[in-house]
Amino acid sequence: MAKVAVHKVPKGKLAIDGGPKAVTVEIPRSYFGLSEISDEEKRNVLDVLDRQMLFRWQDAKRSYVARFEREFASLLGVKYAVAVSSGTASLITGLRALGIGPGDEVIVPAYTFIASASAVILVGAVPVIAEIDDTLTMDPKDVERKITPNTKAIMPVHMRGIPCQMDEIMRIARKHKLFIIEDCAQCNGGSYKGKRVGSIGDVGCFSFQVSKTITTGEGGMVVTNDPMIYIRAALAHDSGITFWWKLSQEVPQELKRVTPFAGDGYRMSELAGAVGLAQLKKLDKIVATLRKRKREILEDIAGAPGIKPMRVPDPDGECAYSVNFLFETVEQAQAFSKALAAEGVPVHTIHTEGFPDRHIYRYWEYVLGKVPVTKNFDPWRDPRYGGNVSYSPDMCPQTMSILTRTVAIPLSQKMKRIHTQQISRAILKVAYALFS
Ligand SMILES: Cc1ncc(COP(=O)(O)O)c(C=O)c1O
Repeated sequence: MAKVAVHKVPKGKLAIDGGPKAVTVEIPRSYFGLSEISDEEKRNVLDVLDRQMLFRWQDAKRSYVARFEREFASLLGVKYAVAVSSGTASLITGLRALGIGPGDEVIVPAYTFIASASAVILVGAVPVIAEIDDTLTMDPKDVERKITPNTKAIMPVHMRGIPCQMDEIMRIARKHKLFIIEDCAQCNGGSYKGKRVGSIGDVGCFSFQVSKTITTGEGGMVVTNDPMIYIRAALAHDSGITFWWKLSQEVPQELKRVTPFAGDGYRMSELAGAVGLAQLKKLDKIVATLRKRKREILEDIAGAPGIKPMRVPDPDGECAYSVNFLFETVEQAQAFSKALAAEGVPVHTIHTEGFPDRHIYRYWEYVLGKVPVTKNFDPWRDPRYGGNVSYSPDMCPQTMSILTRTVAIPLSQKMKRIHTQQISRAILKVAYALFS
């Protein structure tokens, strides 16, 4: 808990009312890993192109994808990693590795990118939507309420760099004998009570799309400590992997325990692997800088009237993509956000009525409408499905209430102390003017 600071509150009219802006320097806005691309990524990519080795199994011994997998696993402290072509592919691969399919339900949070739910549908299972709480991540109490005899797994999504309440979620999973598939797309580099996200549940899934902590343009990773889950994930991500293993004399021991089954086409290219390997070295620095900047702001503004920083299950482990505040009312959130924007701070409310944000369950039309993928591929009407999940745009009032009352100030690793000082000044100016 940050101690209450003695505030030096900027005097004068709010900028929204015609006064001078509290922010007098330009606040850096950037992507995370994408904005850190430098010589190392370029060198690796040129090496791939010069050697004309764009496919991992052309030169398995020197494969960038294989090195990326090994170093990713080592950083997370897990035994196995399988690189794939996207975050969605990582979730589908992770679900297949767990044996999830028709007849099964998987609990997903009401606030996550639609891909979390579509991955469940694409393996033939049914997503069940649970509320989030004041952490912006799934509410363990609602998760437990949503368990049915058909539930096979829970998918905690570490949203906006915030680690989920994994102690509670793991306890529920153990009690009900359910799998945990962590969606870490928005929390690469995060941890919970000293353990990297992705290494806590049965399987962890990552995305390296451009907006993520580190990027390969498109890409993903599946991680696990379980040899059977690993081998199933490897088989699930590449229809021909047993052939490539044999050709490269790299057949894993674990293969003896599984009969190969049809896999998908989710291999990562060497170009992506080359970028990923270079980006990985920057991951912890990006996250450490974001955490530092967030802490500076929280310490500067601690105890300011009317504003409440959002609860983070493990502040030492968050990726700190943004500083988030939860207001008592929608009107307060809107007023604060508008006044702060006028002061020159990049800021936004998380949900604005009418904007069809695909991160909010209400706008998942093909999920709420139970739209079959094809005529005969229909998880909800599959004869093996014995449940009867129901959806409606108003089914998660707690989630909608929290999202409409949340205001986020996005952070950048390019920010310096001068920028957080100016953001803090603006926050204090607005908070004292509106709420004291
Ligand atoms: C929480 C979450 N899950 C899954 C995904 C899907 O990742 P990708 O876009 O790489 O398929 C994303 C990406 O935006 C995401 O934010």
